[in-house]
Amino acid sequence: MCCLIFSVDMSHRQAADSVIGAVEASGRHYRDSLPMIASENILSPLVRRACNSDLHGRYAEGLPRRRYYQGCEDFDTIEEIGISSAKRVFNCNFANIQSTSGTNSNMGVLKALAKPGDTITAVSTADGGHISHARMGAVGLRGLNLITYPWDLGRMEPDIDAAAALIRESEPTIALFGQSVFLFPTPLAELSDAAHEVGARVMFDAAHVLGLVAGGQFQDPLHEGADVMTGSSHKTFPGPQGGFVLSDSDDEKFQRRLNSGIFPGVCSSYHLHHVAGKVVALSEFEAFGEEYASDTVSNAKALGEALASEGFDVLAEERGYTASHQVVTRHGEVDSGAGRDAAATLEQAGIITNMNMLPGDTKALAPSGLRLGTPELTRVGMGTDEMQDVARFFARSLLEGEDPKAVKHDVTEFKGDYRTVRYCFEPGPAYPGLD
Ligand SMILES: Cc1ncc(COP(=O)(O)O)c(C=O)c1O
Repeated sequence: MCCLIFSVDMSHRQAADSVIGAVEASGRHYRDSLPMIASENILSPLVRRACNSDLHGRYAEGLPRRRYYQGCEDFDTIEEIGISSAKRVFNCNFANIQSTSGTNSNMGVLKALAKPGDTITAVSTADGGHISHARMGAVGLRGLNLITYPWDLGRMEPDIDAAAALIRESEPTIALFGQSVFLFPTPLAELSDAAHEVGARVMFDAAHVLGLVAGGQFQDPLHEGADVMTGSSHKTFPGPQGGFVLSDSDDEKFQRRLNSGIFPGVCSSYHLHHVAGKVVALSEFEAFGEEYASDTVSNAKALGEALASEGFDVLAEERGYTASHQVVTRHGEVDSGAGRDAAATLEQAGIITNMNMLPGDTKALAPSGLRLGTPELTRVGMGTDEMQDVARFFARSLLEGEDPKAVKHDVTEFKGDYRTVRYCFEPGPAYPGLD
């Protein structure tokens, strides 16, 4: 009887072992590949230490020194340091660092600033807007009436005059800007004026470009008219998965609304280990962020040029391909699925990307394009010269029909020189704990 009580069902143990095996295999896959998904990044050793800590299991609802739980004193110190650092990094008067993702930040702000039935204007998903800006996502969840901006396909940004007219006509409660396909700064000053004229709040979703904004390499939404800026802490901003809500308003009532949009609005536990990691990432960003952001954008521009010179159809040639961390390529006719096929071939060759809808595409699972990003390659030490090498690997795989296995062999050898994470206090293994 005793044996039965204490026996372990080995199939359960095998399942756990399989998971650990897959976790390590995934780490090796990324270590040996060229990870080029624009929304991804890697952690510095110090950020990893903060994340992999006892805070993982703790709770701290409320704000620093005003908690619903005991035991938070040390965490209060962490969150206070983080709020001060975030205000310095983003040069603003208000920061909430609790949200658990970019989507969660958006949900909190929509909860804070709008009520069901209100109107919101935003970029459509077809033009690069995010699902949280759509009826199927957070905007729909809040019961908002969505109107999307007319889009300037050539410039890959809202059509300024037509979007301003639409805002004046529709008088939204929130005018939301920002995209997932985000090559160029939004003409925010002009559009914010139109929004403020009709009493709308301007919300800027900087999920993708937050690290570039913080590093002074993109645009400065909070000083170009945005009343509130949301973002992810793990895309171009090189921290752990999480979010930010930021504002330059010094209106305490407005700040309280934003805080309560996050808690109790959309969070209870807010993943304290990730908040601690975010705060370490903010400190590292203060020391290294400007250089990192500048290198990330230079690499994206170099990648765009190198891919074009290899013969790829890179979008926005007339604007220099990109002003962000992203490059977008077209691989075939609209709705042909050529982007999906290219992503699959590249993965066999050791290059990790994502297929993406381009203007005109209507099928999310059969799009014609790829969206590429440079943050991770930059953080492991690649520069503009290496972007030529990367473009060559693309050409061998996609244009020259070489066996992807042969390309993968060379990619893995090439990547062997780029396994140390930089732009941080203690540069160390970018993909730790692997044999
Ligand atoms: C514009 C935009 N907003 C929000 C998000 C969601 O961010 P998260 O994945 O942190 O929820 C994304 C994700 O890619 C995005 O591109």
